[in-house]
Amino acid sequence: MRNAQKEKNIVPSNLIYQPKIPTVLAVSGGKGGVGKTLTTANLGLCMARMGMRTLLIDGDFGLANLDVVLNLRPQFTLDDVLCGERHLKDIIMTGAEGIRVIPSSSGVMKVPELDKLQKLMLLDQIESLDEEFDVVIIDTPAGVSKNVQYWTSSSSEVIMVVTPEPTSLADCYASIKILSQMTAEKTFKLIVNMVRNDIEAKKIYEKISSLSDEYLQVRVDYLGYIPFDESVRNSVRERVPYVQKYPFSSASQGLRDISRQIVTQGTVGQLKGTMQFFWRKMVSAHTPDILSYK
Ligand SMILES: Nc1ncnc2c1ncn2[C@@H]1O[C@H](COP(=O)(O)OP(=O)(O)OP(=O)(O)O)[C@@H](O)[C@H]1O
Ligand SMILES: [Mg+2]
Repeated sequence: MRNAQKEKNIVPSNLIYQPKIPTVLAVSGGKGGVGKTLTTANLGLCMARMGMRTLLIDGDFGLANLDVVLNLRPQFTLDDVLCGERHLKDIIMTGAEGIRVIPSSSGVMKVPELDKLQKLMLLDQIESLDEEFDVVIIDTPAGVSKNVQYWTSSSSEVIMVVTPEPTSLADCYASIKILSQMTAEKTFKLIVNMVRNDIEAKKIYEKISSLSDEYLQVRVDYLGYIPFDESVRNSVRERVPYVQKYPFSSASQGLRDISRQIVTQGTVGQLKGTMQFFWRKMVSAHTPDILSYK
């Protein structure tokens, strides 16, 4: 009898409305030159190869170079969208493996810092693409500027890229501290780049994870490592992402492992990203100051 009652109350899963909303990953790191852009580009290609409809956004206004790494030549950029001259849909480009890319500009900066209206307008336009993508990966600039805070707070996962240099470690920890305070993010993911091996990577992870746990009450999850690899540098010169040009290199292997880790460990395909994105948008709509972090 009880079971019959239970069965009666169960709504068939095909009748539950499940909006198709992408998981949004922001790639950050604090220090410049640690490999954020290359990680974004190559991760995007790996995700696309895993069958995911992938969108990459170059969030580095003014010093954009995701298009360079992917060998694209954009005619229009996010600057044109922010100035109200184009819609986001008009500037999206298509790269290898069918990945879609929203480029930014380099050398010109019509919009140095996003104002509240631009932030909401951009979120709106990105969300209008929701149904078209499974995963969105945002390449953020170095530092913890307001634009970085904007991108990380618009994401469901923040991936920090760190290298073994003490300056990178210090900047990574400082960024986690500031971003967790400013955006209320309490979980970060970590990729260790340019290391010799797994042991070195794990040591770096342990350091950042234990400091973040003890002093910031922030959890840091390990996604994996990318070895220092000459083929990465060659691929930059050749303007072909290394997972494409050197698929058997150690860096490509590392990145494939990381992609699998993101899918198995993360929220791709789940609703966490949705809720966060939605919640933040709601809050910002009612109290616009929240997104300006003043
Ligand atoms: N695994 C690696 N092995 C060897 N060299 C690497 C590796 N990863 C990155 N590099 C080198 O680091 C350089 C900087 O990488 P990238 O442009 O991705 O960094 P970034 O963090 O985006 O920099 P910025 O802060 O300026 O945006 C690359 O041009 C490449 O030469
Ligand atoms: Mg970069």
